[in-house]
Amino acid sequence: MRYQFDTLSARPMRDQPIRRFSSFFAAALTTIGLLISTPTIAADPVSKKPADLAKGKTTAATVCAACHMPDGNSVIAQNPILAGQHAAYLEKQLYNFKLKAGAKEPERNNAIMLGFASILSDEDIRNIAAFYAAQKANNASAKRKDLIVLGAKIYRSGLPEKGLPACAGCHSPNAAGIPAQFPRLAGQHPEYTEATLNNFRLGQRKNSAQMMTIAGKMTEAEIAAVSEYLASVR
Ligand code: HEC
Ligand code: HEC
Repeated sequence: MRYQFDTLSARPMRDQPIRRFSSFFAAALTTIGLLISTPTIAADPVSKKPADLAKGKTTAATVCAACHMPDGNSVIAQNPILAGQHAAYLEKQLYNFKLKAGAKEPERNNAIMLGFASILSDEDIRNIAAFYAAQKANNASAKRKDLIVLGAKIYRSGLPEKGLPACAGCHSPNAAGIPAQFPRLAGQHPEYTEATLNNFRLGQRKNSAQMMTIAGKMTEAEIAAVSEYLASVR
């Protein structure tokens, strides 16, 4: 639910007239919803429209494939695997990469993805997120196998002595995540997981207060260990 809310508030109100109209329509519906006090209608009515997987597939193949492969199974370690990731998480990231009107920097600062996310409309984002979510992930595998034991311990139990919670508590015991709340982490390229956790740790990725606090409690060695463990999880 949290994502849908974030996504909604991250949604730009400018762009083409048709979208401006649907935003206006959405706002009007929300107001009516508030007036008759049914909180459920405050959810985004636009996203109730089913996603078009064929359109998502076309965008993935023409715009994103060079880095993420046509089905989202990136083979380059710096580019995350998107196949099998939850749609709500992917949508949130794509909105976070964009620069919102009036903001100094995007909520998730990445020069490459700023460019690619910016060309996507709300509809493109919904379609492409649903397309990737429906693809089967080709899992990466661990490379530094000696780190896995420590990584598994951190993932399952955290490090109580330094107040680090178990990752499994949110991302689920098998790291499949929980749709609409916590992303899937299993089988991700360890290099990407490690880099993004270090970005949270150093405050270079700022789009999750929870993850900034958690990564802030970890050493680089602990981050490397949990990243290798996650790559090995199926
Ligand atoms: C030139 C290479 C490149 C292209 C093309 C590209 N990406 Fe990315 N993408 C990246 C990199 C690198 C990252 C990691 C960014 C970071 O470290 O924060 C990323 C991250 C992402 C993420 C975040 C995933 C996560 O697990 O948090 C999403 C979603 C995404 N890209 C979707 C897309 C879509 C959709 C397109 C096409 C419209 C696209 N990308 C095109 C390189 C690319
Ligand atoms: C309290 C809940 C919670 C706990 C505990 C937690 N996470 Fe997260 N994690 C999140 C949320 C929420 C996100 C999504 C952040 C966003 O919206 O960008 C996330 C995102 C991530 C990402 C980014 C995934 C991607 O594709 O970029 C990684 C990696 C990650 N968590 C690893 C961990 C690890 C490792 C631990 C344990 C040390 C952990 N998390 C513990 C809630 C949690």
